[in-house]
Amino acid sequence: MIDEPVLLPDQAVTSVADYRTRRRGGEAISRARELGPGATIKELGLSGLRGRGGGGFPTGRKWAGLRTDDAGGGDRFVVANGAEGEPGTFKDRAILRADPYQVVEGLAVAALTVGARAAYLCLKESFDVEIGRVAIALEEMTEAGLAGDVPITLVNGPDHYLYGEEKGLLAAIEGDAPLPRLLPPYVHGLFATAPQLGWSARPQSYGFGPDEDPSDDDDVGQSNPTLVNNVETLADVTHILARGPEWYRSLGTPQSPGAVVVTVVGDVRRPAVTEVELGRPLGEVIEELSGGVASGRTIKAVFSGVANGVIRGDQLGVPMSYEALAAIGSGLGSAGFIVYDDTADMVSVARMFSRFLYVESCGQCPACKFGTGEITSYLERIEAGAGSEVDVEIIGRRLETVTDANRCYLPVEEQLVIASILREFPGDVAAHLESRWPPSRSYDLPKIAELGDGRVVYDRRQADKQPDWTYSSPAGPPGGG
Ligand SMILES: Cc1cc2nc3c(=O)[nH]c(=O)nc-3n(C[C@H](O)[C@H](O)[C@H](O)COP(=O)(O)O)c2cc1C
Ligand code: SF4
Repeated sequence: MIDEPVLLPDQAVTSVADYRTRRRGGEAISRARELGPGATIKELGLSGLRGRGGGGFPTGRKWAGLRTDDAGGGDRFVVANGAEGEPGTFKDRAILRADPYQVVEGLAVAALTVGARAAYLCLKESFDVEIGRVAIALEEMTEAGLAGDVPITLVNGPDHYLYGEEKGLLAAIEGDAPLPRLLPPYVHGLFATAPQLGWSARPQSYGFGPDEDPSDDDDVGQSNPTLVNNVETLADVTHILARGPEWYRSLGTPQSPGAVVVTVVGDVRRPAVTEVELGRPLGEVIEELSGGVASGRTIKAVFSGVANGVIRGDQLGVPMSYEALAAIGSGLGSAGFIVYDDTADMVSVARMFSRFLYVESCGQCPACKFGTGEITSYLERIEAGAGSEVDVEIIGRRLETVTDANRCYLPVEEQLVIASILREFPGDVAAHLESRWPPSRSYDLPKIAELGDGRVVYDRRQADKQPDWTYSSPAGPPGGG
């Protein structure tokens, strides 16, 4: 899918010596030292790299914003986001398994460039394999002098969707539940003591350093701008610095340069995760990577995680790029594609996605928790054949208000994905309203616990998870039923 795999080498990198010889390890941090912060950021800007955590924000611009003096007072921190909670996505774990060293080096470059006091590499406590590999890589990179001078701490966080949301992530690093706060990390960062909007400030200790004193006046009133980047973004940074922005620009499209690590799951023959050049037709990517749907079946719908509008089966000629997917009302997201064939019931799929977002919503913003909950209930009624046109209208109204006073993007995801399903598949809705839909198959939320060798295991515990984040049955390991 790409002539020379970069982020996912054919053979996993197992030592820092291997990383140096086979992967140009250490070249990125040397280059960043040589260039200095301004020129390093310029290289990233020239490369056109966009964040791979889902939003696609230009990385050079993000880093430049953190370096300006008006970004706020106090210290700076950097965070690698490896929470990977988006349904249909397994790319960060694949990258960390294939080569964790490239991520550590990218994080070290980020810390050096924005002048950070400390860096955090965040995984989930359930990611056993990745935690082991990253811990070894971190130790070896530090000993070899390739991890820079800024301390990097490995954080293993809880298995909640909002742990991956950048403001929730900061709360979790500080030891709290991953509840998104009000202001973005570049304004109100880690261990910030400045008020968010005047009333919620509290003095806090950094938790490290011999001279730390939380009651010290110097520690009060700092906003500590913090850079949060996805694991894949940071791995890209490493290779862009080592090879140059022109190399990156030689791949992809002008607005979506480079390659991306794509996951394909759902009704496909061989679920897979592979590196693909941006700009290729999506249908071709799905076919080549996963073998497509079973013979005699056709693709009915594709979802890019649960954060974007649905892509219909007749739209698969669309280039896999930020701009082309946005133009058809969808998005690249984190390039995790969930495929449904023509046997799928889009009302059931909408109910399943809506329930996921309802359960994972934290409830700090009433319109989000109540709205996603109500939409889920009405979808359940319609799915069961007990719904009416009025229920569909109520869903439409709730979709308009679910984002009211939202602290984070989660309810926007509900709005985008559910509204698009109802709009694009009115026949499925009508069939349920007229009790014509034969109950045919069950649906597992495609939150991935394991993926390899053409097989995927979904996290079955999600079905037991309740809206208060407890589980209705004792929680076993991810993937367990
Ligand atoms: C509900 C929710 C969940 C998210 N989960 C993740 C995640 O698991 N990993 C991730 O990198 N970004 C996730 N994001 C996006 C982050 O908030 C943030 O935009 C990203 O880490 C920034 O990195 P980037 O600029 O490199 O893309 C999530 C966002 C939302 C709204
Ligand atoms: S918008 Fe929803 S998920 Fe986000 S903070 Fe508010 S209640 Fe929580």
